[in-house]
Amino acid sequence: MAGAPFDAFRYAHEHRHEVVWMSQNTNHLVPPTVIADAVYGAIRDRRYEGYPYGPGDPELKALVLRDFGLPEEWTVTVSAGGTEALYMLERALLGPGDEVLASDPSYLIIHKFVELAGARTRNLDIYQPPYRLTPDRVQESITPKTRMILLIDPLNPLGSGYPAEEVRAIAEIAKDHHLLLLNDVTYRDFADGHTLAAPFAPDSTLTVWSASKNCGLAGLRIGGLVGPAELVRKVLPYNTNDLGVNILAQVAAKAALSTKAEWFPRIKTTTRANQAIIKGAVEEVPGAFLPLYPSQANMFAIDLAKTEVPPEALQKELLLQHGVFVRAGNYLSPKFGSRFVRASFSNPPAEVERFAAAFPAAMATLRARPVVAS
Ligand SMILES: Cc1ncc(COP(=O)(O)O)c(C=O)c1O
Repeated sequence: MAGAPFDAFRYAHEHRHEVVWMSQNTNHLVPPTVIADAVYGAIRDRRYEGYPYGPGDPELKALVLRDFGLPEEWTVTVSAGGTEALYMLERALLGPGDEVLASDPSYLIIHKFVELAGARTRNLDIYQPPYRLTPDRVQESITPKTRMILLIDPLNPLGSGYPAEEVRAIAEIAKDHHLLLLNDVTYRDFADGHTLAAPFAPDSTLTVWSASKNCGLAGLRIGGLVGPAELVRKVLPYNTNDLGVNILAQVAAKAALSTKAEWFPRIKTTTRANQAIIKGAVEEVPGAFLPLYPSQANMFAIDLAKTEVPPEALQKELLLQHGVFVRAGNYLSPKFGSRFVRASFSNPPAEVERFAAAFPAAMATLRARPVVAS
């Protein structure tokens, strides 16, 4: 009897104390005391015994707006991660026949939610320079069915960031064509400069926020959306958090957002140095290359197509033989996923050095291995 297929996540979680986690763009560089002091305090106060305030802690919402530099008339929602906000808004605002202009590669979970609403994405190929949507391509791809533009900035998985003038141009296209604009800014803190789309199309933009990556809180599941009151009102019927979102997560997000300016600059410096370490390792392997460098996020793609090493084989070899966990590209791109792995690098430099030693070794092993027909 054939065994169960290999479950990389199960293996990695079971071995989490030995594994370098570079597979999910998680951030392992936030000073732990910032979070621990706040969460321990809430536990001592037994905050977990009662339900949280249903709509979300007003102080947390004010911090989200302050972080974005948006005035207080914007409405903020709090949910179990940005993911839940993405689900809610796609279900609420899209219906059968609608199309969403998006990209390939992309963060495909959003595309899945679009399909759950009965709509579909129209994915523009962006796996070539400049590795992002451009206003011209967005403009020429609009059809009578287009209802929304998905602007993930910076983009997971490539790490591309949008210049201010392109954000503005895309927002104006959305406004002129009466389209919704979904601006997912999960990775914005890692960028050299970042421009929110919301001020350019205030009536039609929903901005998804997340504390998973900038604040290193992926395991606590906290995020939400920001938008004009009228649009958010249409989304809220799909909110399943009538009884509020995990209180410890809200406490942790407040502690992190209120202190982020003190510690995030160090994280950014470290992630930039880590990118350079990875680049050096990639350059040791003939045929492997970084499509986009430097990344404006905390991840990028490593292209393996010319090496003929399948990304899934590299993911497994790195995990099982070297304890380094990266992600094969098929999770992020129907069309180009067999070309690349994605590696994130908001990790301590010693962990990234482990990747740098493991990558050339794993690639040499896999290139020497005969290709087995599947
Ligand atoms: C572009 C993008 N949006 C949203 C999310 C999900 O964020 P959260 O952990 O807040 O649900 C991710 C997670 O990887 C992401 O890459």
